[in-house]
Parts: sequence; C-alpha cells; structure tokens
Amino acid sequence: MPRTRIHQKPAAPWWSTAVVYQVYLRSFADGNGDGVGDIAGLRARLPYLRELGVDAVWITPWYPSPMADGGYDIADYRAIDPAFGTLAEAEEMIAEAHALGVRVVLDIVPNHTSDRHRWFAEALAAAPGSPERDRYVFRDGRGEAGELPPNDWRSEFGGRAWTRVTEPDGTPGQWYLHLFAAEQPDLNWASREVRSDFEASLRFWFDRGVDGFRIDVAHGLVKDHTLPDLGIADDAVFEHEGGKEDHPHWDQEGVHEIYQTWRKVAESYAGDRVFVAEAHVREDRLPLYLRQDELHTAFNFAFLKSAWEPNVLREVIDRGVRTLAEVGAPPTWVLSNHDVPRHVTRYGRRDTALGRRDENGRPGAAATDRALGTRRARAAALLMLALPGGAYLYQGEELGLWEVEDLPADVLRDPTWERSGRTVRGRDGCRVPLPWSGSDAPFGFGPAGGEAPWLPQPAEWEYFSAQFQSGAPASMLELYRTALRLRREQPGFDSGTLRWLDAPEGVLAFERSPVLRCAVNFSGDPMPLPRDWGVLLTSDRITGGTLPADTTVWLWGGGAALR
Ligand code: NOJ
Repeated sequence: MPRTRIHQKPAAPWWSTAVVYQVYLRSFADGNGDGVGDIAGLRARLPYLRELGVDAVWITPWYPSPMADGGYDIADYRAIDPAFGTLAEAEEMIAEAHALGVRVVLDIVPNHTSDRHRWFAEALAAAPGSPERDRYVFRDGRGEAGELPPNDWRSEFGGRAWTRVTEPDGTPGQWYLHLFAAEQPDLNWASREVRSDFEASLRFWFDRGVDGFRIDVAHGLVKDHTLPDLGIADDAVFEHEGGKEDHPHWDQEGVHEIYQTWRKVAESYAGDRVFVAEAHVREDRLPLYLRQDELHTAFNFAFLKSAWEPNVLREVIDRGVRTLAEVGAPPTWVLSNHDVPRHVTRYGRRDTALGRRDENGRPGAAATDRALGTRRARAAALLMLALPGGAYLYQGEELGLWEVEDLPADVLRDPTWERSGRTVRGRDGCRVPLPWSGSDAPFGFGPAGGEAPWLPQPAEWEYFSAQFQSGAPASMLELYRTALRLRREQPGFDSGTLRWLDAPEGVLAFERSPVLRCAVNFSGDPMPLPRDWGVLLTSDRITGGTLPADTTVWLWGGGAALR
C-alpha cells in the first residue's frame, strides 16, 4: 500500500485568495439595445474581465423579477428574466467564463421572494392559517379590528415592515412582514417546504456548473417568532439602531442550522463550491457563520465602511485577519458594491467613513474633491489587493467611476426614494451603466441606435470608458490590470500572513513575505523609500525616492527593514 504523505498541506481552495468582480447585470453591458444590461452583454465582455485578471464574477440576481428592488425581488429562482436573456444563454455564459478561467458566483436571495412569486399569489388566495400562508410571515393585526400592524418593525427602505392584505372575500385582512420593500415578502424559514425548495434551487444552479453563491441578507432569515416590539416611534421612517444585542430579526441563532444544510449540498458537488455571506452582524459574531460546517467566506464591511485613516484601517485590517482566523476562514476585503456610494466619492469627502446616512442612500452632505477621492481610491486599491485573503471589486471601480449624485428625481428606481417620502434618494447613483467606448452616451453600454441606458451617464464618462483608459499607463484601468497581474505572478502574495512594520506617523507598512512589502502614506509628509527594495508598483507617480501623500507602493526584494 502506498504511504500516505500526512505532512503535505492541501492546496488552498481558489476562493480563499480570489479576486471576485461584482457584475450588477442591469448596468454592466446591454447586448440587445433595450437600455438594460443583460447576459448577451456580459458574454461579449468576458474577455475584458479575463484581461482585467479577475478570478470570478459574482452576478447580481438574474432571475425573473418585477424589479421592484433591481432583481432582489425574485419571482422564480430557477429561470432567467427575459430582460436578461434565456436559461440557454446563462448556461453558455457559464461555460464561456469557465473556458476563460473565470468562475461564476450567483446571488441567492433567501430572506424574501417577490410578491409575484407563485407562493405569494397562493398565500393571498388562501385563508389565514393555511399552509400557503405559512411559507411567509402572516399575522393578524393589533387594535380592535386588526387595523394596526403586528409590531413596530421598520423596513430597511423606510416605513413599516408590515403591509395589510385584502382577504379573498374582499375584507381587510392579515398583515405580512417585509423587512425590505412591500414587494419583497419575508419567507418563513420554519417551513420545511421553504427549506427544501431552496436546496432544490441551489442544486439547480450547481448542476449547471456555477461555482458558488453570494447569500443576500444571510443574517435575516430567522426571526424571533414572538415578534417583539423594538420600541420604535410611530412616526419613525427608519429603525436607525446600531449594534443592538439580541435583535429579534437579525442574526438569530436559527440561521446556522440552515447554512449547515446548505454546506452539505455544496459539498455533494465536485470542485470547490463557495458560499459568500452578506451578513451585517457584529464583527465578533461573523465567525459563527464561517465555522467549518457552515459558509466559506463573508464580506468584511468594516473595511468598506472605514474612514481613510491609518489607525482606523490598521485596526480594521487586524480584526479582519484575526477574527476569521479563529474559524480558519480567509479574510476578505471590499471597497464598494451596489448598495453604497462609490469610494472615489466617499474618499473625496471631508468625512471619509461610510455613515449610516449613506447606507440609507443619502448623498453626502459635504462637497466632494474628486481628484483627491480618485488618488485615495488608487491607493486603497493597492492596499486592498496587497492584503491576504480574497477581494471583491465592484464593476466600474476599475474605471475610477464615482457616485452620480445628481440623477434627476424622475429616473430614480431605488424603492428607498418612494418609501422615505422622497427624502432619501437611494442607491441608484452607484448603479449607473458602465461606459465602455466612444464619445457619446451610452458610451458603448449598448449597441448604436439602441434605447438610452436605464439611468443616464455623466457626459464626462467619455474619458472614463474602458476603451479610453486601455493602454493609458496612468489610468485606473491599467493600475488594476497591472496590480492583478502582479498579484497573480509575483511571489509573496500567496502567503496567508501579514506583519506590520515600523513606519513613520501616518504611514502603514506591512510585510507579506520576506520578498514583498506594501506601504501606504496617508500623511502630508513624503516618506523616503528604502533604497534596498525595488518598486514593484505605485498607485501614483513617485519622484525623488519618496512616497507622496495618499499613495501606496508595493516593494519587492529583501534586505534591510523599511525605513
Ligand atoms: C442586499 C442587497 O445587496 C440589496 O441590494 C438589496 O436591496 C437587499 N439585500 C434586499 O434584498
């Protein structure tokens, strides 16, 4: 019998160091000219993603949806919305991405369905207490005639988390829970049928070769079944709570058992399939989701929310590495996504941290210095890509796009706009369709002569298109391309560790391996670069052997410590 080599370390799975590119499908590329991005557009741009150098794409929901929340309101989990294409096209896309060496992660939304899901129609047609209603969270109202909602919970998009239905006989009836828009009724995860149906949906897509799922609102599925009040004032639009212990509808213990089952489904497939949790929970609770028999990774929102300040970031990075190591999960890093103002804009404000107001979609109160924001965004990209673990890029950040804060009110689609009584504009400003080429809108987003993009693009994006930046050495696109290539090819990036180095005030410097270091200068004082280390890449031009403010450098070599 051959001897087993017990000391050999198994190769780390792809997702532990992957750079995953988020495709917000509606805004990525429009293949058929209807003004909305689609699978045909994505297929045509796969070579671009390959050239950019990403390991995987995460595609936001592409399932049939009335689009009350940009597709996060799903009417059928095992089909494709006709606006995006067909199931056959989706299958071809997966195969083509794989042929290019790009993995495919889908978005799954288990907290709620669309109100146009067959189950919800059945629930409305059925009687209170029926099995059809039991798939959702229906309750009688309070007050003499049930005219008051069952409790005081708030929708994340503003307003009550409950909507009253009309019973089939025409009388005012029960209320159903929706932690998001009224068009997104929350599912009841105590229902066996809900559980098994989601397992079937996971299998449906795993069978088609997808490499994993990003789990939407992973912390929300299970609610305290007593539905206790939170003590929210009647007229409050938002809950606005922060880090409350033992919240009755976030981060309940019961979610873990669901993910243990999901993990078994993933493991019944060949290859390394991955689950990525969108779990907005206290940092010390996040490892619970990433235990060996649960999910694989999770977004690190502390990094995304952090101010552009060395001490804060160092702390966030340390915690990001340390907390997840407890359960053997790799750290992950993300700067932007489709729910928050783009980081070029955030970093160009006086207050660079993502505030609660931003999360509710309010544009920053302060003016933005875009040049400064861009400079910091370049430095942040090299910082993020030098950290151990995985990283998530949001489409357009590689082009240096900013938050479009002046969209006309009549084009806004985010449900937050209406649900907040038109006081909070919402997240459309980071979802504006990408500029690909040419000097006139839609800048190659769709074919010439097609419909205008579903959100208007700023005229200046002519100078931010992929074509315009391609080959221009100082462009954001070339910075990302080079950084991703070096990250793949250069020794040192594969180490799982980070060691902080002594550095002047206002500088963060760390070593990834004896041959690879990274330094970020946040201060106004240029930092002298060590002479015995070679410069691999800098986020902006350096002159005279010093690192200027808001600049990151990658250094290679060895020898003396960074001085
Ligand atoms: C998180 C998603 O990222 C966001 O876009 C969506 O509105 C909510 N979950 C509800 O599904």
